[in-house]
Amino acid sequence: MKTYRLAVIPGDGVGKEVVPEGLKALRRAGEVTGAFGIETADYPWSCEWYLEHGEMMPSDGLDRLRDADAIYLGAVGFPGVPDHVSLWGLLLPIRQGFDQYVNLRPVALFEGIEGPLRDRGPADIDILFVRENTEGEYVGLGGRFRVGQPEEVAVQTGLFTRRGVERVARYAFERARERRRELASATKSNALNFSMVFWDEVIAEVGRDYPDVELTSYHVDALAARMVTAPGTLDVVVASNLFGDILTDLGGALQGSLGLPAGANLNPERRYPSMFEPIHGSAPRRAGQGVANPMAAIWAGAMLLEHLGETEAAGLIMAALRHVAKHGPRTKDLGGTARTAEVGDAIVAAMGRG
Ligand code: IPM
Ligand code: MN
Repeated sequence: MKTYRLAVIPGDGVGKEVVPEGLKALRRAGEVTGAFGIETADYPWSCEWYLEHGEMMPSDGLDRLRDADAIYLGAVGFPGVPDHVSLWGLLLPIRQGFDQYVNLRPVALFEGIEGPLRDRGPADIDILFVRENTEGEYVGLGGRFRVGQPEEVAVQTGLFTRRGVERVARYAFERARERRRELASATKSNALNFSMVFWDEVIAEVGRDYPDVELTSYHVDALAARMVTAPGTLDVVVASNLFGDILTDLGGALQGSLGLPAGANLNPERRYPSMFEPIHGSAPRRAGQGVANPMAAIWAGAMLLEHLGETEAAGLIMAALRHVAKHGPRTKDLGGTARTAEVGDAIVAAMGRG
């Protein structure tokens, strides 16, 4: 039997509470299918670790993660360490250093969960977001000049490369082929006359290799409105780093709770390990109470298994998630009173066969 080696970074806040639930589900999926075992290496890198060591992870951090089959992450960020320090010290260096250029974020309203949109149900809300994850607006290029002076200047540059846009576009077209063969591209080429005009051109060029997929470009502001007014018209969406970040939080809201959506940071060529995480943050105000929703972390676990080729096990987790979404128990964010571990246990129980 195979054994997968996971690098586990629970991180901060509720990340530490939801990751153990995800690991329970991963292990159970291996047992029930009889297909694999899970071995974990835990890394305590976090804001707490930063306060002790002066850095979010050791300087050879990436080397320690490099040989893992996948990285499983909780959440990063806690009061006491500025967010831009913690994120640029841990999450973003992993995404960039391991060339995880696709951030795959499925948005689906589960049966039994009340979404915020009147008269819209699971049939209307099922969108796969492909967010560019290594360049664009989040490349960290820029600087501040004359700091603290009245004439202070801050510059933050978006960086778009042909290779970078091409590869994420290709990935998105491939996913569209597996679904409704419709791809929506988030642009803003009316105002962003260099980067987004370029984005549109490159996406359209790649689209020539996919004549069977219908490509539609929407300005990102209109696309955000469309997600609310006509979400059923969207199937696969490709977006730059910033646009994808914003749209997927809106997508999470459409799922009824930010305790649900998960994301996969993928290096599709598998030159480096990919990383799987709930989209939600560390929720410091909710941390330490054992009431966080573990469903996003568990969904991230299913995406991890999918990436490893364990399709059956991934399907088992997703079916259990849907079952518990429908029948409960539920945590507070979904209107219930259950604790984190109760929901995790219910999902594990729903995975039992016979
Ligand atoms: C996310 C988060 C991160 C991002 C932050 C914490 C840097 O919001 O994963 O969506 O913007 O990528
Ligand atoms: Mn985000």
